Amino acid sequence: MSRRNFLKTSALGVGGLLLAKCTSAINKKTINPEITAITPITKPIVISTWNHGLAANKAAWEILEKDGTALDAVEAGVRVTESDANNRSVGLGGNPDREGKVTLDACIMNHENECGAVAFIQDIEHPISVARKVMEETPHVMLVGKGAYDFAISKGFEHKDLLTPEAKESWLKWKESDAQKKPEINSENHDTIGMLAMDAEGNISGSCTTSGWAYKLHGRVGDSPIIGAGLFVDNEVGGACATGMGEAVIRIAGSATVVELMRQGKSPNEACQLAVERIIKKHKDIKGLQVGFLAINKNGEVGGYSVYAGFNYAQKDNTTEEMKDAPYEMEW
Ligand code: GLY
Repeated sequence: MSRRNFLKTSALGVGGLLLAKCTSAINKKTINPEITAITPITKPIVISTWNHGLAANKAAWEILEKDGTALDAVEAGVRVTESDANNRSVGLGGNPDREGKVTLDACIMNHENECGAVAFIQDIEHPISVARKVMEETPHVMLVGKGAYDFAISKGFEHKDLLTPEAKESWLKWKESDAQKKPEINSENHDTIGMLAMDAEGNISGSCTTSGWAYKLHGRVGDSPIIGAGLFVDNEVGGACATGMGEAVIRIAGSATVVELMRQGKSPNEACQLAVERIIKKHKDIKGLQVGFLAINKNGEVGGYSVYAGFNYAQKDNTTEEMKDAPYEMEW
């Protein structure tokens, strides 16, 4: 019997009534009454985009398993990816823009709808932690560029050159080969890390961080630092994050859309699929345009969906530590 079926069966047995009572008390605004009544909440749990999510989830789990908060978990988790110099699309070692500058975007959101973000920040290894400081220590939601950098320095963050020799070499080759070539996202190097966690209290937080589109125009900001686009959390409903072509995600307020669809009763998978379908509908040419959404609802149910094949995500909870392939709309 699968774990899911086992849990369902158990819930219907001796503990069923009690469980149904507890579950509905925790979820006053139920996503799907039928599921809620019989399915125990999976918590704590952490999910994050792409293969780099496995290592990130491990760091997040160290906090969650000790009854730490989802907020601490999602910050600690993605910091691992931000410091991974081998990862070419997040933080240190991230691909630069077409002028050779590594510019980073990040945001964080907690279970009280508080949020913070930084965009187009340079020379700071952990934009996610700066975003958290914006959330907790300023009256603002987003700081950008030099303002974000100055704020980070004032809070004790160190200046660090994030352009690794390897990333610089690739950038120089790209410039030599064809400076006007359109960079492809997600084809070789995985994109943004988005992370969502539910802690033992049942509270959800999320984080999102990236160096964005490789060889982008200087000054370009994607979806990742934009609350509602790259990330959105509503603790009454669930959370969602996005990866892939940020411009397309922004155009449909992607992550907020996924959360609102879950509020209307869609499962995380269905909500992500509907958001992807909306992106496809709103673009005259969808060729090569990859976007993936990842979501969790208040029952700890998880889902993802992408435009093209290949999007995967990492999941860690009390019984699971694995990569999952998201369903998708079309083959490349
Ligand atoms: N999703 C990352 C970006 O477009 O910058």
